[in-house]
Parts: sequence; structure tokens; C-alpha cells
Amino acid sequence: MKTPGRILALAAAIFELTAASTFSPARPPAIPLAVKSPYLNFYQFAGSDGGNGGLLAGEWPSFWAGQIAAWTGMIKVDGTTYTWMGNPGPQSVTQKSFEYTSTRSVFIMDVGGRVEMNITFLSPITPEDQKRQSLIFSYLDVGVQSMDGHSHDVQLYTDVSAEWVAGDHSSVAQWEYDTTSDNIAYHRVYRQTQLEFSETSDQADWGYWYWATKNSEKLTYQSGADVDVRGAFQSNGKLANTKDTNFRPINQDYPVFGFSVDLGIVTGSVNTLYTIGLTQEQAIQFDGATGVVALASLWTSYFSSETEVLSFFYNDYSTAASTATSLDNKIATDSIAAGGQDYLTITSLSARQALGATQLVGNSTKQYFFLKEISSDGNTQTVDVIFPFYPILLYLQPSLAKLMLDPLLENQESGQYPNKYSMHDLGAHYPNATGHPDGKDEPQPLEECGNMLIMTLAYAQRNNDNAYLSQHYNILKQWTQYLIDEALVPADQISTDDFAGSLANQTDLALKGIIGIQAMAVIANLTDNAVDGANYTDIAQDYITQWQTLGIAHDANPPHTTLAYGMNDTHGLLYNLYGDKLLKLNFVPQSVYDMQSAFYPTVEQKYGVPLDTRHNYTKSDWEMWTAAIASDSTKKMFISDLAKWINETPTNKALTDWYDVQTGDFGGGFTARPVVGGHFALLALQN
Ligand SMILES: *[C@@H]1O[C@H](CO)[C@@H](O)[C@H](O)[C@H]1NC(C)=O
Ligand SMILES: *[C@@H]1O[C@H](CO)[C@@H](O)[C@H](O)[C@H]1NC(C)=O
Ligand SMILES: *[C@@H]1O[C@H](CO)[C@@H](O)[C@H](O)[C@H]1NC(C)=O
Ligand SMILES: *[C@@H]1O[C@H](CO)[C@@H](O)[C@H](O)[C@H]1NC(C)=O
Ligand SMILES: *[C@@H]1O[C@H](CO)[C@@H](O)[C@H](O)[C@H]1NC(C)=O
Ligand SMILES: *[C@@H]1O[C@H](CO)[C@@H](O)[C@H](O)[C@H]1NC(C)=O
Ligand SMILES: *[C@@H]1O[C@H](CO)[C@@H](O)[C@H](O)[C@H]1NC(C)=O
Ligand SMILES: *[C@@H]1O[C@H](CO)[C@@H](O)[C@H](O)[C@H]1NC(C)=O
Repeated sequence: MKTPGRILALAAAIFELTAASTFSPARPPAIPLAVKSPYLNFYQFAGSDGGNGGLLAGEWPSFWAGQIAAWTGMIKVDGTTYTWMGNPGPQSVTQKSFEYTSTRSVFIMDVGGRVEMNITFLSPITPEDQKRQSLIFSYLDVGVQSMDGHSHDVQLYTDVSAEWVAGDHSSVAQWEYDTTSDNIAYHRVYRQTQLEFSETSDQADWGYWYWATKNSEKLTYQSGADVDVRGAFQSNGKLANTKDTNFRPINQDYPVFGFSVDLGIVTGSVNTLYTIGLTQEQAIQFDGATGVVALASLWTSYFSSETEVLSFFYNDYSTAASTATSLDNKIATDSIAAGGQDYLTITSLSARQALGATQLVGNSTKQYFFLKEISSDGNTQTVDVIFPFYPILLYLQPSLAKLMLDPLLENQESGQYPNKYSMHDLGAHYPNATGHPDGKDEPQPLEECGNMLIMTLAYAQRNNDNAYLSQHYNILKQWTQYLIDEALVPADQISTDDFAGSLANQTDLALKGIIGIQAMAVIANLTDNAVDGANYTDIAQDYITQWQTLGIAHDANPPHTTLAYGMNDTHGLLYNLYGDKLLKLNFVPQSVYDMQSAFYPTVEQKYGVPLDTRHNYTKSDWEMWTAAIASDSTKKMFISDLAKWINETPTNKALTDWYDVQTGDFGGGFTARPVVGGHFALLALQN
């Protein structure tokens, strides 16, 4: 009876392997490690398509775009070396659990049954505090404690490689090691030839990276080739306190920047704090009212030097941690109330990713909030990407919405854009916001006119800022005229879902345009433009009445809106209906809401409802927009399908918003995009 015994042993081994780590509230496709801005944007890929299933040890962390950025963790316990992060060689620790909140990723590790590690990655989100939000820095807090009641001799090792500092790994890196006046030890690493405002593989080609920890007599450091620095720790449990001055290409004898802390005899719990961050004096090139100017990173108006920022951030950890806990708790309480635990699984994974595409710039008198269209094409300030992102902003800090709309309005009002409809984006590639003086940006005329009207009113309502509506009345009126001319019978054009192709008479796009006209009726009435207000109200009413005839398959069973007029056997997510609720317009009849809520469950697939009848893929942002305005049971369906997808998808990059509802795999290549801010759609309706 040998075979059954072997099978049992094998089954036990497999069980042990798979039971090694728990994941709470889900095993996400990628784990946020340091995600704070378009350039501080690093993950541990986890999905089964090439990822290692969500373990911190045994695989290298990556920049969102896929290139490895080595971040290494090793620990020596009573003379035996283990790996706890990355893939430097020694045996891995046993990961017991992984948990994420809105601001944190927390791993608990068992090291040989002797000590337990609590490894916390904290990327702060402080939209109410511009000073802190402007810092492109993130924390790594490593706690070590005995888990068997005995004392253990422990040394802790970490490093980053020069892969962090540029996307072209044949470019030459340079580095220094120093200590601040308040005793923070840091490696400063950067691209030797600084190319301001330039990117390679989406990593910045300029700026200075700071990898830091507290200096003490227990700390040793070393820069040098990966094998030398990591080897020194493995052999000696400490580093040589030496500096490699042979500045060289990132991929030549991979230079790494190590710290080793001799924790000595550990019984109780001891924590070591590290920070990683990027300083760039200049952040954005912007074509504003006075022509093209360079805009500074906003931290420069609070701090006079890079090391001052570093010290502030490092020493701010207890404040940052308690602020983060408050935000985690707020999002948890509100999400659970609005959509249950499954909804929190979605929102808490989305928060860092959404804000991680943004950056505060400017000076003490004028600030701007910029956004990168990460992954889809790198555009700056894309209107139809800000639009799906917008709910998280309205929920967390509606005053910041103005700083996001301002650059778009400033550029177009100063006559830098020739088309009578709204521009699609403010620049072909971040960090250049140099506009489109030739008017040849990707044309999404109905889409962007509707978006700008809806977003401007949503901002003004939540901030009681009617002056903003008056200030921008002329251009808003210009875009309304475009909608009056074009929205009811949309020409053959693309919507924001450009990958799905161009189509005439798109029902959902027409609805956005008509809601845009109604939004302008409200804007006119709020700004003492009563004649316009009455006129736009009449036009919008006429259009929405006609739209209900043109866009609904009344004879279908059950009836539903179509993808395009007259195509009765088509359907799609009617996500633009959300604008009616967001602006509290009470404009579209309740019967339309009820009809759609009854319809969606009839076309549900394993992981959700397809975007439309052309494909089997969907968009998670539009699913949550649709859920937010659906009946309770249909809302629950959308939310539980998306939460299930997060836990089961084989995709292994930062949360894609475009996936196949049958297989759970990618719909296209999108990853790490800020549109996951749209997952907060339920919460934006509550303020
Ligand atoms: C791990 O550390 C973090 C931050 O110090 C703390 O919030 C969390 O409760 C700890 N988790 C465990 C399981 O000890
Ligand atoms: C931004 O514009 C500058 C020229 O001003 C150019 O050198 C740089 O490559 C552009 N950056 C990107 C990411 O396209
Ligand atoms: C602040 O920024 C604004 C907008 O870019 C600019 O017009 C102004 O000159 C700046 N002020 C200072 C003191 O640099
Ligand atoms: C769009 O819809 C209108 C109104 O039903 C119709 O007259 C027109 O032919 C349609 N256009 C296309 C290209 O189908
Ligand atoms: C705007 O005000 C007019 C009265 O001047 C009113 O008839 C109309 O309903 C108002 N429109 C909206 C959208 O509130
Ligand atoms: C209403 O608006 C339309 C479209 O701009 C315009 O042609 C018409 O003259 C306006 N009517 C009034 C009474 O202002
Ligand atoms: C679509 O359905 C409507 C009623 O719901 C009907 O009037 C129209 O003729 C149908 N169109 C086609 C092409 O079947
Ligand atoms: C959806 O997938 C099924 C197979 O599961 C396939 O038969 C069908 O053609 C696909 N539909 C579309 C619109 O691609």
C-alpha cells in the first residue's frame, strides 16, 4: 500500500504549499508596494499568468509597466540567511498572510519558526493635506519579533538597484551616500545625464531617488555590484561601509545600494523604518495663459532642499501612519455601508492606484493637479480618463477637482486650441501638458464636451462655487452649443471606449450629451443667465423625450437601451446615466433606471456584464458607475462579480480596468490606470 501513502504525502505537501499564505480581503492581480505618483509606482505582480501568486519573496518587484526594479530583503536569524523580498538567492521565508487596506500592503512572515516579520508598505493618501500629498515618497516598516519564546540573533538587509532610476537600463547611473544633520542615512541615486521632462518606458529620465533609513551604530551600508553587496551580507551579516565610485550603466554589474541593521538579540518586537522617494524640482511643462512654462513640484514651496523633504517624511511616520489608519477606516466604513465587504475589496485595492497617477505641482499662490493616462497611451490630463477617475476625488476631496479642471480650462480659454468642441487631452505624453495648438488630438468631441460640463458642475455643487461657473461660462456655453448641434443624433465617432471602434448613433454617448445640456441649464440658472437656463431646459427636455424613442428596444424581452439607435438586438452598459444622479438632476425618468436594472442580470456572465454586444469584455469602472445607480439586487450582482474577479483573475499586472467577463483575463493591455477611481462611484453619490 505504498501508493496511497505517497499520494497522501504529496497531497499534504501541496496543501502546505497552497496554505502557506492567506490573502485578505483578496489575492489581487498585483500588490501595491510603493504607489504614489506616475514615477513612484511599483508593484509585486501576483496573478497566475507569470506572477508567483502573491508572495513577496522569490520574485522581483516591478515598475507598473513591467520592467524589474530590484528591491531586496534578506534576514539572518542565528546565522541562517533567508530572503523576504525579491529574488537574491537564499531560501525564502514562509509567507503566512497578506492583507491590503486602502493605504497599506502588509505581509506576515514566519522565518524558520524562530522569528516573525511584519512587513508593511505604506503609501500615504492625504488629499486634504497638499503639503504631504505633494511628497513623492513611500514607507517600508519592517517589524521583527521572536515567535518561539527564545532569543535570536538577527540581522536585517535591504537594498534597491539602480533600475529604479531610469527606464533605459543601458544609461549611466550615479550615486552618493550621506547622512542628514538629524541622522538619517541615505543613498542618493540618479541618472547621470538628467533629461528633464523625458521618459523611457514610462520611467522618468530626471530627478533624484532617495533610499533611506535611520543611522545608528548598528547600521552598515555599501554600494556596489549586486553579488558583492548581497554576498557581503550573506557572509558577514553586515556591510563594508564602502562606496563604489565606478559610475556605470544600470545593467553593468548591477549597482545596488544596501543597508544592513544588526538587530542583535531579539526577544520582543523591534521595528526598522525605510523610505523610498523621488525629488524632481521641475515636474510639468504647461502651455497656460502666458505660453509654455515649467511648473515646479509642489513640495518645493514647502521645503528648501531635497534632504529637508527626506527628513520631514522620515520623521513624519507616526503622523502618516495614524492619518493612513483614519483614511483606511473611513473608506472601510463607507464602502461596507454602501456595498458590503465585496465593495471594500474593490475600493481599497483601487485607492493607491487611482491617486498614484496624479501629482500636485505649482507654487504657494497657484497649484495644479495633474494626471497621467497611465498605460493606455501616456497622455496628460485626458478628459475622458479624469471623468471615470472623478468619483474618488469627489468622495475624498472635491476641492481638488478644480485644480484638475483648471489647466484644461486655462489652455483652451487662452485661445490655444482651435476646435469648438472640448479637447481630449492636454498633451500627447506626460509630463508635457503643452496642448494641441493644431487641434489634432484624438477627436472625441461629444464625449469630452459632455464630460467637461458634467465635471465642472459636479465640482461647483460640492464646493458651492458658483463663481467658478460664471468665470468659465463662455467656454461652457460654447461646448453646450456643440452638444445642441450634435448630441441627439451622434455622428459616426468614437467614445471613450475607443478600442471598441467607431459607431454612429451611440445611445449611451447621446445620453451623456443630453445630460450635458441639462447640466448647462442648471449652470445658467445658477449664474443669473435665466434666458439661457430656460432655453437649455426646453432643449434638453425635448432631446431626452426623443432619445427614449430612438435608444430603447421597447419590444425586446426584457426591454433595454440599445448600443446604437435602431439596433434592437444590441445592448451595452448605460453608464452615462450616472451623470443624472451625480448632479442630482432628476432629469431622466425613473422608468429608464428600472428598465436597465431589470435587464442587466439577464446578460450577466461569470465575472460581470459585457461593456456591449460587440465583445465579451467589460470595463470595471463603467460597471461600478452602472452599479451605483442600479436597484439593490443588480448593484449587488455587479459588486460581487467584480470582487470575485479580483480574487480569481489570472492577470498579473496592476488592476486592469478592461477584462474578459468569461475568462477573467485581459480585455486588452490596460494596467495601473487611474480610472479605477471610478470604483468609488457609489461613494461619490453620498456627498
Ligand atoms: C503589522 O504592522 C502594522 C504597522 O505597524 C500594524 O498596523 C499591523 O497591525 C501589524 N499586523 C500584525 C498582524 O501584527
Ligand atoms: C517633453 O517635451 C520635451 C521637449 O520640450 C521632450 O524632449 C521630451 O521628450 C518630451 N517628453 C515626453 C515624455 O514625450
Ligand atoms: C506661481 O505660479 C503661477 C502660475 O504658474 C505664476 O504665474 C506665478 O508667477 C508663480 N509665482 C511665483 C512667485 O513664482
Ligand atoms: C442615426 O439615427 C437617425 C435617427 O434615427 C437616423 O436618421 C440615421 O440614419 C442614423 N444614422 C446612421 C448612420 O445609422
Ligand atoms: C431654470 O430656470 C427656469 C426658470 O427661469 C426653469 O423653468 C427651469 O426649469 C430651470 N432649469 C433647471 C434645469 O433647473
Ligand atoms: C436657444 O438656443 C438655441 C441653440 O443655441 C438658439 O438657436 C436659440 O436662439 C435659443 N433660443 C433662445 C430663446 O434664446
Ligand atoms: C426596434 O424596435 C422599435 C420598438 O421598440 C421599433 O419601432 C423599430 O422598428 C425596431 N427597429 C428595427 C430595425 O427592428
Ligand atoms: C463570446 O464568447 C463566446 C465563447 O464563449 C463566443 O462564442 C462569442 O462569439 C463571443 N462573443 C463576442 C461578441 O465576441
